[in-house]
Amino acid sequence: MKYQVFDTYGQMCRRAANLISAQIILKEDCVLGLATGSTPLGIYKILVSWYEKADLDFAKVRTVNLDEYCGIAADDPQSYHYFMQKHLFSKVNIKAANAHMPNGLAADIQAECKRYDALIASLGGIDIQLLGIGHNGHIGFNEPADVFSKDTTYVKLSEDTIRSNARFFKAVSDIPRSAITMGMQSIMCSRKIILAANGKDKEDIIHKAMEGPITPEVPASILQLHPDVSVLFSKE
Ligand code: F6R
Repeated sequence: MKYQVFDTYGQMCRRAANLISAQIILKEDCVLGLATGSTPLGIYKILVSWYEKADLDFAKVRTVNLDEYCGIAADDPQSYHYFMQKHLFSKVNIKAANAHMPNGLAADIQAECKRYDALIASLGGIDIQLLGIGHNGHIGFNEPADVFSKDTTYVKLSEDTIRSNARFFKAVSDIPRSAITMGMQSIMCSRKIILAANGKDKEDIIHKAMEGPITPEVPASILQLHPDVSVLFSKE
């Protein structure tokens, strides 16, 4: 794992945006694996600004997001569909048909998980996957567990994750309790991975993930087995 520490969140975001834009420039129809949450906000902002300056073109880019809550409609402001539209997709020239996310409202969730894995395979896998990390070590919504989850799967969110997500919701009762998440196979088969984190409160878990035992109790620790992971961290 390549570990880089930055003084500011802005510098960390710039480095992540550099890596993503290099991928888009090298392969215009690349497959980007994308994340939501607070960490990527600055990264998406920079990518949008480069698109606006005509330095980046998303016309042929394909994307697959890591996860989506169950039971929330795509046009609900709390959904990850909405987040991606708001912060990236509506601001660049990506084609709607090329921006893929799990459907948290699917009538048959198991079939939806299978569809999502088949879709990622049909795109030829992910060229570069952007990951954030939860305080409990989750990546996507792969929560601490007894085993790593191989395929895209339905998950009940841990109490820790629900608490941490509370900052995005008005009432605790509004916080979704379950989600669909990309599994470890698609993540680990990504040709390159960026793990981005900021804030002193993430320092411990980043070190556990990078140097601790490889265990499903710290899901991000599996990344130690990947040949090309850039861990980008800023204390602020
Ligand atoms: C979101 C996702 C999550 C977040 C993680 C960190 O798509 O996959 O794993 O990356 O919960 O969230 P933030 O960035 O809000 O600290």
